[in-house]
Amino acid sequence: MSSEAAAYGYLRELVFGLSHNVLDPSRDYLFDTRLARLLRNQGMNCLQDLVVHLRTRYDPALERAVAEAMTINETSFFRDTRPFELLRTTLLPRLIEARRLTRTLRFWSAACSTGQEAYSLAMLMLEHFPMLVNWDIRIDGTDISHEVVERAQAGRYHRIEVNRGLPARLLVRYFDHTGEDWVVKPAVRALCNFRQADLGGEYLPFRRASDRFDIILLRNVMLYFSQETRRRLLGGLHALLPQDGVLFLGTSEQPADPSLWTASLEGGACHYRPVRQGARE
Ligand SMILES: C[S@@+](CC[C@H](N)C(=O)[O-])C[C@H]1O[C@@H](n2cnc3c(N)ncnc32)[C@H](O)[C@@H]1O
Repeated sequence: MSSEAAAYGYLRELVFGLSHNVLDPSRDYLFDTRLARLLRNQGMNCLQDLVVHLRTRYDPALERAVAEAMTINETSFFRDTRPFELLRTTLLPRLIEARRLTRTLRFWSAACSTGQEAYSLAMLMLEHFPMLVNWDIRIDGTDISHEVVERAQAGRYHRIEVNRGLPARLLVRYFDHTGEDWVVKPAVRALCNFRQADLGGEYLPFRRASDRFDIILLRNVMLYFSQETRRRLLGGLHALLPQDGVLFLGTSEQPADPSLWTASLEGGACHYRPVRQGARE
């Protein structure tokens, strides 16, 4: 095996070990493009230099930087629009009626990237359900990448980012304008909590008996995972949703074990509810 092939193999394993992202050898060229800046910053000439460094020194920060550079962080406000429309018109009114005694709603934007999905949910709630002002509403956003979580926490977006998917009416109502950037207003920010967490490991970030979510969005991340990681992750999410809870996946994603989920297609958006033992038809 050439030293180049060995370097790619080492990097693929490193990324899998840290983020559970499976990188196909046919796309090894991505290491060259995505790690170019990191190599420059480290004063290294090529990937082999990086691999020699990682093999011979204990450098967890650099390992993490490699894994983070290889994740795809593509996202946008109200991405795919239809899940948000379905939430607004149908799913949230039903859930609000069902939770009228506890007055609590919990959302999880799992693999939230830079936070646009979580803030879209927050704006949806403020804009269309102002009568819930005294409810306990919480939107958790988690991502494996420290860098994107910090950006989500800051809630600061460039003009180009807010031009993707965010209606102008919501932009002026829920953001403050500073130079080229727009910053989410405190009322939107207050509904959202962001933290770093791995979805691919043995334990999910929410695992207390009291942890329950009404809506989970797990979109456009499972496609990077192995079948085994998908099965484990979806099994964990199943336990966090009550029978009337809802899971959204990305448009090209499906549950690893369909027998655990009931799929419904409404308003052009597919969503899933957990099947409970004894409740199977
Ligand atoms: C393509 S973005 C999707 C963002 C958002 N869910 C959406 O659909 O717009 C994928 C995100 O998954 C995150 N990710 C990748 N592997 C992960 C893991 N093992 N645990 C948690 N997040 C992960 C990446 O850092 C990235 O921000």
